[in-house]
Amino acid sequence: MITVFGSINLDLVVALPRLPTAGETVSGRDHQTFPGGKGANQALAARRAGADVRMIGAVGQDSFAELALQSLREAGVDLSGVRAVNGSTGLAFIGIDPSGENQIIVASGTNQRVEAAWLDGCFAPGDTLMVQGELPLQQVASAALLAREAGASVFWNPAPVPEGDLQACLDMTGTVVVNTSEAAMIAGRLGIAGDPETFVDRFVTPQRSVIVTLGADGVLARSGKARYRFGSPEIVAVDTTGAGDAFCGAVAAALDRDTSFERALKEGVAAGALACTVTGAQSSAPLRSDIVRLADQIT
Ligand code: RIB
Repeated sequence: MITVFGSINLDLVVALPRLPTAGETVSGRDHQTFPGGKGANQALAARRAGADVRMIGAVGQDSFAELALQSLREAGVDLSGVRAVNGSTGLAFIGIDPSGENQIIVASGTNQRVEAAWLDGCFAPGDTLMVQGELPLQQVASAALLAREAGASVFWNPAPVPEGDLQACLDMTGTVVVNTSEAAMIAGRLGIAGDPETFVDRFVTPQRSVIVTLGADGVLARSGKARYRFGSPEIVAVDTTGAGDAFCGAVAAALDRDTSFERALKEGVAAGALACTVTGAQSSAPLRSDIVRLADQIT
């Protein structure tokens, strides 16, 4: 069982001729609306990758809430732990350029009002807690502690990298996933070199596996003494939004059913690549059958 304690957003997406620089206005045509939020995206990705998933988080008492939850509901994610609280549902304003690259501005709204206490009694030994960087770090750390005390493992994707003391969360994490810019940012805060090789070597421990996603170049990871590097299958990217979330969901789902670390990485790389071929974050999360087929081709 995977429990995701994370953000729930509604994404407003506009295709642009190019991404704006600071102070610049760039116009696109019509916008599209998609359910989003890194927590919700990862919950859906893990569900589509075959896991039983429960979502714990918050939406507002507004018209965005149901739209934000619609895909999770349709996919059979357990939403009984999602609360409607005072405030606005999280919103993300996303621009996408013709190469699929994006720029995201988030209004966190009710994601800032979640409480780790909502997770009381959620965990059994062998379960997985997935957390990201869009909820208050203190609540994420408390959630990780609850999970660890109950014998569950913690899967942490600190994206975006939160302000505050990262070490407490790192110490409770069994699997940490970052992209190259997040690795550089975390390394800079801790005063070490920020390249992916140094990052995985510095942060791997007997209790913690470390994964750095490399975009189109695939993934670099360490688990115990083993080091892994896989390239990404060639795809035509239309929208990279949610690719990292698809990666995390597929890896967590594979690890949760005791797949080997190496195969879990391949399934993550396959899921991330497939997610780039469809517009939107949750709309692009691939099904397990497609993930398995593509992962079989990764050597
Ligand atoms: O990782 C992509 C997500 O980041 C989007 O769905 C958006 O909501 C932001 O949280």
